[in-house]
Amino acid sequence: MIRRKILVTGGAGFIGGNFVQFMVNKYPQYDIYNLDLLTYAGDLTKHRDIEDKENYHFVKADIADRDTIISLFEKEKFDYVVHFAAESHVDRSITDPEIFVRTNVMGTQVLLDAAKQIGIAKFVHVSTDEVYGQLDFDPSSFFTEETPLQPNSPYSASKASSDLIVRAYHETYGLPINITRCSNNYGPYHFPEKLIPLTISRVLNDQKIPVYGDGKNIRDWLHVFDHCAAIDLVLHEGISGEVYNVGGHNERTNLEVVQTIIQTLGKSEELIEFVTDRLGHDKRYAIDPTKLEQLGWKPTYTFETGIAQTIQWYLENKEWWESIISGEYQDYFEMQYSLN
Ligand code: NAD
Ligand code: TYD
Repeated sequence: MIRRKILVTGGAGFIGGNFVQFMVNKYPQYDIYNLDLLTYAGDLTKHRDIEDKENYHFVKADIADRDTIISLFEKEKFDYVVHFAAESHVDRSITDPEIFVRTNVMGTQVLLDAAKQIGIAKFVHVSTDEVYGQLDFDPSSFFTEETPLQPNSPYSASKASSDLIVRAYHETYGLPINITRCSNNYGPYHFPEKLIPLTISRVLNDQKIPVYGDGKNIRDWLHVFDHCAAIDLVLHEGISGEVYNVGGHNERTNLEVVQTIIQTLGKSEELIEFVTDRLGHDKRYAIDPTKLEQLGWKPTYTFETGIAQTIQWYLENKEWWESIISGEYQDYFEMQYSLN
């Protein structure tokens, strides 16, 4: 049995948190180190079921803190890095872009330096389809790995910048890397200021759902468990230096997503409130996942099965999201929307 040390950054957040749980359970022979700064988006309560396992470790640290990161890598000699840690919310990046550049660009560069210094087997950089910019509404157009990077928001621009730094460390120093670019995720532990968990939690509380603009913008939704399986595959089988798009052809308008949740919970569409559109709101995202499928990946959830599972999870785990929305989240909500 091969023992490996895997550093997962951002493992207290939504996708990183699901990935940590997936890896700790799937690979008892791997030591999984969850490194996270525990910003507003990170919490460790989600790891109660794994926190006592021998192969789970937690380190509280800032990825942009060079001295701490370099010392940690020198001490632990990680084999693999899977890098999720980021500022991830487009709306927050519109209000306050600076932290996005610090964490997403500078933090990534610090991790790359540390990885280069000790010489690791693979650095997987978890990125987003938003780096490609937006598509029009022609249903035959998709993002491929060759689509030029044309990010539109401060968030996507910071992610595109980090992708290019990762690529440069491969080209210049020969660091073994992969970049994954996934479409919008949803599922357990999704932070309740993003569209799907925001809608579920507010519908359950009979509160208005803010839909930006006309609600016709399209996102391509992937269940987080399918994303975790994709990253596991890329980590082990991905060809070094390659980019892999991740997505399952589940395009929905925002209005369709909100209507599906309202109908499933048996509430009225009068809860929908159209509000001022997001600045620079990308029209449509849609992924062509052919390259990853050729590596052996296939999603297991359709949007219908995934959203049903997710709604059920939010019904069964109210304690988790209620404790978040009763805290400083309320100040964010008041600042962002003028709804009750
Ligand atoms: P998230 O905001 O839920 O989690 C981010 C985590 O990073 C949090 O736990 C936070 O505490 C941590 N973090 C933030 N700054 C840090 C720092 N300086 N040092 C250490 N930790 C820090 O984000 P998410 O939705 O889970 O996204 C994870 C990654 O996946 C991001 O890189 C994002 O760009 C990418 N991604 C997200 C989606 C999506 O739909 N959510 C889709 C594709 C790609
Ligand atoms: P979001 O969950 O923020 O993800 P992203 O911006 O990364 O795609 O938003 C998903 C879509 O939902 C996006 O088109 C913006 C829209 N949206 C609303 O209409 N209302 C909201 O309150 C939020 C948070 C998002």
